[in-house]
Amino acid sequence: MQVLTAIQDFRAAKSALPGTWGFAPTMGYLHEGHLSLVRRAKAENDRVAVSIFVNPTQFGPNEDLAAYPRDLERDLKLLEPLGVDLVFHPTPEGMYPSHFQTYVSVEEVTKVLEGAARPGHFRGVATVVAKVLNIAQADRAYFGQKDAQQVIIIKRLVADLAIPVQIVVCPTVREPDGLAMSSRNTYLNLQERRAATVLYRALCAAQEQFEAGTRNGGGLRETMRSTLAREPLAKVEYVSAADPETLLELDQVGDRLLLSMAVRIGKTRLIDNFLYGNGVWMIGESASQRISEPAN
Ligand code: PAJ
Repeated sequence: MQVLTAIQDFRAAKSALPGTWGFAPTMGYLHEGHLSLVRRAKAENDRVAVSIFVNPTQFGPNEDLAAYPRDLERDLKLLEPLGVDLVFHPTPEGMYPSHFQTYVSVEEVTKVLEGAARPGHFRGVATVVAKVLNIAQADRAYFGQKDAQQVIIIKRLVADLAIPVQIVVCPTVREPDGLAMSSRNTYLNLQERRAATVLYRALCAAQEQFEAGTRNGGGLRETMRSTLAREPLAKVEYVSAADPETLLELDQVGDRLLLSMAVRIGKTRLIDNFLYGNGVWMIGESASQRISEPAN
């Protein structure tokens, strides 16, 4: 496993290794969620590259860029046994040199949910993902459903800019008590860690209603809200029952649904979601085909 910092070194190392490539971009401080992407990449490709970069442009001025956990040595120890070929670990100056002035802005789907709560976040995500996809030039890139809106935006970006890579979406990996794994879970103290399961419990409560036949979006949002309200340490930022393509809130739910939420537990901001609908992750592909079809 080689660890490369400079873009040209990564490219040289990659071109010396033949075969198909899978790529998993991360911000490091790896957990089983990240490792599930790497294992899937390894299973579906001859070679695997992972990037580890805490991307400053996706953090707001009052967010946790400085506090974000980092431990490269530990990350490399986790990646080595999985058979990873290359780790790209650039510096902020390497990715954003002083003359840098190009940003990627995905429009409508970035305006709601996480995008509304974190202005500028998805501009930073889209920019860095476009850049690392260009650097990695992989056949497939692996992302987690944990960040469902991020996946929808990246699929849009890749389709709209014709970036030649297949986006593969992997299921959310959870702790035994249901909490979605996240590097930010390390911020939680014991009491907060116990309270943090309320996101999963709220999603399960709404799921139960949905599976029992409720198709009222407002009702599903209310169920999530009332479960969250029973946890004193939880402060709701948003709950959503939205269309997984447009991310617009649904009054009447059809066969596709994204339930999602952002909740503060103490100072820690957590997100989670459940997704329903066959072939929902093909949405990006079918939408891009529709858009590229001549109007007649
Ligand atoms: P990061 O939060 O490190 O996550 C890297 C990848 O791991 C993302 O695709 C994310 O959805 C996935 N992931 C995180 N927790 C997961 C879980 N519990 N189960 C499954 N997958 C999980 O997301 C980012 O970094 C950044 O925004 C990035 C895309 C790297 C751009 O900077």
